[in-house]
Amino acid sequence: MKKIELAKGIEALSTLDYDLKVFDVIMKTEFGSSYNAYLIHGKEKTALVDGTKPSFFGGFLDALKGEKPDYLVVNHTEPDHSSSLELMLKTYPDSVVVATPVGLDFARQLVNHDFPSLPVKGSLQLDLGERVLELVAMPNLHWPDTMWVYDKESEILFPCDGFGAHFCSPYLRLSEMPDEVKRQYREARKFYYDVIMSPFASFVDKGLSYAKALPLKMIAPGHGPVIDEDIEQLYADYEKFNLRKEKDQVVIAYGSAYGKTRKLAEALAKGVRESGLGVCVFDLENANLDAVAKEVLSSRGFLLGSCTILSDALPVAYELTTRMNPVAYHGKRAAAFGVYGWSGEAVANLSTRLGQLRMKVEEGLRVRFEPTVEELKQAQEYGKQFGLKITKGE
Ligand code: FEO
Repeated sequence: MKKIELAKGIEALSTLDYDLKVFDVIMKTEFGSSYNAYLIHGKEKTALVDGTKPSFFGGFLDALKGEKPDYLVVNHTEPDHSSSLELMLKTYPDSVVVATPVGLDFARQLVNHDFPSLPVKGSLQLDLGERVLELVAMPNLHWPDTMWVYDKESEILFPCDGFGAHFCSPYLRLSEMPDEVKRQYREARKFYYDVIMSPFASFVDKGLSYAKALPLKMIAPGHGPVIDEDIEQLYADYEKFNLRKEKDQVVIAYGSAYGKTRKLAEALAKGVRESGLGVCVFDLENANLDAVAKEVLSSRGFLLGSCTILSDALPVAYELTTRMNPVAYHGKRAAAFGVYGWSGEAVANLSTRLGQLRMKVEEGLRVRFEPTVEELKQAQEYGKQFGLKITKGE
């Protein structure tokens, strides 16, 4: 690793992790990743923004030879950037850690001891001598302790994971990349947004507004290339990714061993349509679960059906819910339904799971063995009332 100058007094130290296959046990990283740190020199002081993983610390320290950062700026405490903080503090015991108050709290628990610190309460002007950094708290982008750094002098924004991508390449700057590499990077950027940022869509709006109001020559994120061209395109992409207008529809997704839960799903669909909402129905046996989860996210309601087998709901119904999370799906109106033969635990168990996702869970609908004409009528009415509660905002 070596320092690469981005602008006068600003150098990037990018750890290239080509071998990373999965990030945080949740996200495949086809293109590996990079962990970017930045040295920012003023006339009197030096700040080091972010770090690297401990396994790369030897090379990181070699690249820092001759430097003595006065400030260790922790943009957030996720360990891909901050787990080397303890090693940094051992190397530079006089450095002051700069982070949001919650970031300092997390950092102390990360290293399990106290250290000199400077809290960023909302925002802070950090004077390095003839260079003033603006540090701004950006909570939930994507951690509660996240902050961004802006250098007015060079017009470079250091937005932590914002605008980042798990993408490892020999090219530090976007403008250096051959077209095919750029294409792969844009794919990785979209995937990064989908997995890491999309649960925090409303906070992304705030970050975008902040960035768009700044004069910017470069955006230097914590992962992937430094964006030194097409910044307007980046904003447009992010605005497109971040579109989250809900469709006036309910998703009905079900698993049905003998077609009986399917009959309930069809009756529910009829009822929901009577309420004025549209319906999107998925048979989970053959569905792309990621696509179903995405459709649920952009819909106003969710009905999840499963028959009961071996005293539980079908694994595929649970599997679908593992594609969802409480951060993005909370508050969505939902209910479980299903036909059963013996004991019928599926509906209660799925209702519990929907509750764990912090959805607004209605009492479920259960029918034993073959649904009668009357029971199908009741299911239709159930669907109608479910839809009406949504349209009336109850
Ligand atoms: Fe790249 Fe949120 O850590």
